[in-house]
Amino acid sequence: MRDLGRELADALRPGDLVLLTGELGAGKTTLARGVGEGLDVRGAVTSPTFVIARVHPPLGDGPALVHVDAYRLAGGLDEMEDLDLDASLPESVTLVEWGEGRVEELTDDRLHVMIERAVGAEAGPEGGDDVRTVRLLGVGARWSAGDGAERLRRLARWAPSATASRKGDRG
Ligand SMILES: Nc1ncnc2c1ncn2[C@@H]1O[C@H](COP(=O)(O)OP(=O)(O)OP(=O)(O)O)[C@@H](O)[C@H]1O
Ligand SMILES: [Mg+2]
Repeated sequence: MRDLGRELADALRPGDLVLLTGELGAGKTTLARGVGEGLDVRGAVTSPTFVIARVHPPLGDGPALVHVDAYRLAGGLDEMEDLDLDASLPESVTLVEWGEGRVEELTDDRLHVMIERAVGAEAGPEGGDDVRTVRLLGVGARWSAGDGAERLRRLARWAPSATASRKGDRG
């Protein structure tokens, strides 16, 4: 999943908003850590108990990574607004866990990265707990035309379908 995050980082540009979806322990933070490594930003991406948003400044020429864990945000958009994400959004890559229904109003364009644990028949001999299926969905003009569409298409090598998927490897 970290490798996947590094690959994802290659395709991300300043101004991108990425929503990470998936149940508790699906691997959202693990993926975000890979993105942080791929973008070469300062500090490891973690899931801190009290911090909701953390800015990881770039070590090189790339964009900063803004990592948001909205799980504890009850207040929806009002509380989101207090984070001033709209101010940092244009120059940064913004990754949000548990952002559905909370950050959509920030921008019309977003990339959904949906992480699912394998269940039932999909689960491997080891119990399958470590297998993840990742699907991508680009929403808005940014991802449906031009450079964004091209980036999404390149990411789609994770899988043959338009909404890309790929089995993630462990942590
Ligand atoms: N294929 C895999 N991909 C990602 N994580 C995996 C995988 N297999 C096992 N794991 C483990 O699952 C856990 C995922 O935790 P992580 O914090 O990334 O999830 P999360 O989606 O951010 O959870 P939360 O909703 O609590 O924020 C880690 O302990 C990781 O080692
Ligand atoms: Mg997390």
